[in-house]
Order: sequence, then C-alpha cells, then structure tokens
Amino acid sequence: MTHAAQIIPSGQALGAEIRNLDLRNLSDSEFDSIHDAWLNHLVVLLRAQQLTDEDLIRFSRRLGNLDWAPVQETGRRFVEGHPEIYVVSNVIENGVPIGSLGAGEAVWHTDMSYLETPPKASLLYALEVPRAGGNTYFCNMYLAYEHLPASLKRRASGLQVKHDGTYNSGGYVRQGLTAVNDPVTSPGAYHPLVVTHPETGRRALYLGRRRNAYLGGLSLVESEALLDELWSYATRDEIVWHNEWQAGDVVLWDNRCTMHRRDPFDPQSRRILHRTQVQGGIPPRP
Ligand code: OGA
Ligand code: MN
Repeated sequence: MTHAAQIIPSGQALGAEIRNLDLRNLSDSEFDSIHDAWLNHLVVLLRAQQLTDEDLIRFSRRLGNLDWAPVQETGRRFVEGHPEIYVVSNVIENGVPIGSLGAGEAVWHTDMSYLETPPKASLLYALEVPRAGGNTYFCNMYLAYEHLPASLKRRASGLQVKHDGTYNSGGYVRQGLTAVNDPVTSPGAYHPLVVTHPETGRRALYLGRRRNAYLGGLSLVESEALLDELWSYATRDEIVWHNEWQAGDVVLWDNRCTMHRRDPFDPQSRRILHRTQVQGGIPPRP
C-alpha cells in the first residue's frame, strides 16, 4: 500500500490533485478513486504523466466511448490514425498550425455543447507548455446555480438556451460554416438552461458559450439581458480554480458542471496539448 493514491483538494470551489498514480497502469480501484474524485471535485489534475496518444486514449476510454475530435481550424480532422485526439496548439509547421485555438485567449465555454449530445468529460495532456501564460481556468456551475437568487432560479429553470455552433472558443469560425452574428438565427443546439447532473443529482447552470447564445422564446433584448445577468454569477473568482501547466500534466474535467477558459500566451513560445472527449453528456431535464 505504499503507492496509495492521494487526493489533495485545491481548497477552492473545485479542483483536486491526485498523486501517486501512473495513468498507464491503473487497477480498477485506482480508476474508481479517480472517477470519484472527478465527480466530487469536478476537475482533477495528475502531474508528471508520460503518455503516448495510445495511452491517453486507453485511459480516456475507461470513462466511456470517445467522440471524434472536432475539425481543426485548418480543416484537418485529426492526428493521423487517432481520430479521437484533438490537438490544442499554436505551433506552426510548414506554414500550417498543427492544432487549434492559437495563442490568444480562449473565452469561457464548455466543450462541444453546440452538439445535441456533448461530451461529458474532456481530458487534456500537456506535451509542451510555455514558461508563463496559457493558464486554464475552470468554474463550478453547481455553485453558479446555487448562488442565483430564488427568483432567477425560477426564471431559468423553464428555459432552453441555444449553444452557438459557428465560433470556437478561440473566436475562429468552425470549418464549413459562415459567421452569423445574429443569436436568433445562428446554428446551434438547444439545451436546458438548468440541468440535473445524472451522476451526482445536483443542479447546474448550463451556459456553454456567451457569443450568439439565445434563450428560446424570448425577444433578443430579453434574452441578452437575462444571459448577461446569469453570466455575471457564472465566472466570479470565488467559484474558479486554475491550472498553471507543467509538461506531463493531465487535467480531466466534467463538461456538465464546469466551464473553462484559457489565458493568452507569447505566440513565439510553444504550447502543445492533446485532448480526448468522452461521450455521454446529454444534458438531462431538470
Ligand atoms: C480545450 C480547451 C484550453 C487550453 O482543449 O477544450 O479549451 O488550455 N483548451 O488550451
Ligand atoms: Mn475547451
């Protein structure tokens, strides 16, 4: 028992580090301890991992079937032979970015919620990171919901919100789509604004992305005002935890009850992360 997993909560509104585990070699009970920590803390960090793409995919599959990666901004679909791997990188090779999201800010979002059935989990594995910048922030959407005044909770609970499908979090227009800046007509998927997490039974606010979001059935003016009010609860410092990346970090988060954003970083530096996304985040009715 010298190598028992150690779970170290961040002490903040979400996030825990798990020490003493090698993701290449996990017993079922070690996997269960990661799974429990992930449900309890919403985001877990494991440092100093040494994974090939196959290792990352094998571990990710223990959480569920994997979605294929979204098409990259260059139109390239995926890493050759590994359609499950989404490359997040600013590195340019032969004039072409090897991944998505560039070196700018990635604004608050939850992954792929423009789909009818978004992924329940995402995993990022850091291969190369800059000395500074490019931190990733996560917020606790259970608390965002719980902090709403009762009247706002009531108003939100019957509504559906459209999650825009045209822009990614880096502000790039998705492949094959034209930029539409009218929230009422832009393509996307409607989801309940308040969801009940199927595994924890807790309610969460499900906002996805601010840009082009639209509350079905309301006038655009009403929709914008209510969304602005809800968003003001969602990203307050007191419900946020962030990771300052080291190469070898794996961060696993729950897309059903968190959002995330990324700081910009020096475009001259190199940042390469590989992501997988686990199916099954159907937002259930409240
Ligand atoms: C993602 C993402 C942020 C980052 O991979 O889903 O939003 O830290 N990445 O690069
Ligand atoms: Mn993301």
